[in-house]
Amino acid sequence: MTAACTIREARTSDLDALVELLGLLFALEADFAVDAGRQRDGLDRLLAGAKNGLVLVASIPGEGIGGIAVGMATAQVVVSTSEGGPALLVEDVVVRPGFRNQGIGRALLARIESWGAALGATRLQLLADKDNAPAYDFYRACGFHSTNLVCLRRTLPRATGK
Ligand SMILES: CC(C)(COP(=O)(O)OP(=O)(O)OC[C@H]1O[C@@H](n2cnc3c(N)ncnc32)[C@H](O)[C@@H]1OP(=O)(O)O)[C@@H](O)C(=O)NCCC(=O)NCCS
Repeated sequence: MTAACTIREARTSDLDALVELLGLLFALEADFAVDAGRQRDGLDRLLAGAKNGLVLVASIPGEGIGGIAVGMATAQVVVSTSEGGPALLVEDVVVRPGFRNQGIGRALLARIESWGAALGATRLQLLADKDNAPAYDFYRACGFHSTNLVCLRRTLPRATGK
């Protein structure tokens, strides 16, 4: 990763850039839809629940105090009964085209790993689109392996007003 790029925790002022990055990611994944309002709500919730969630931004110097966001990743703590303690759910890993293959994605995951280790987490887990071969290669290069599990989902109705 270039020295100019830093990984830091996100602030409310990053929200516009993060919503745009999530738009890039969800446009690639068949199971998700790009919806800026919902994505903003989700990020707001994560930022508000700071103890159990982490929103990271990779930024380079540029306009504004926080610089320009060129990548992001999030993590949430789950309690694993199998592990007998905390594990992390890693989501929202995306680097802006033009900044890929420079070690930014790896640096985001490394930061999540150290955050998790400080909480006593013993496992990182994530879901990847089975058609996203580059993402598989990236995660494998970063030490992840496939499991025998598949993801099942049941959608619930939204509360009225949402
Ligand atoms: C996947 C993604 C986050 C990787 O970020 P990145 O900053 O380009 O990755 P890095 O430069 O840190 O690469 C880390 C390692 O992964 C490997 N890797 C990264 N992208 C790769 C690709 N497209 N194909 C094969 N290997 C890849 C690198 O070679 C590197 O391995 P090395 O250190 O052993 O050389 C980025 O390509 C991206 O945003 N893709 C679109 C969104 C996406 O698919 N996110 C994952 C959702 S599940």
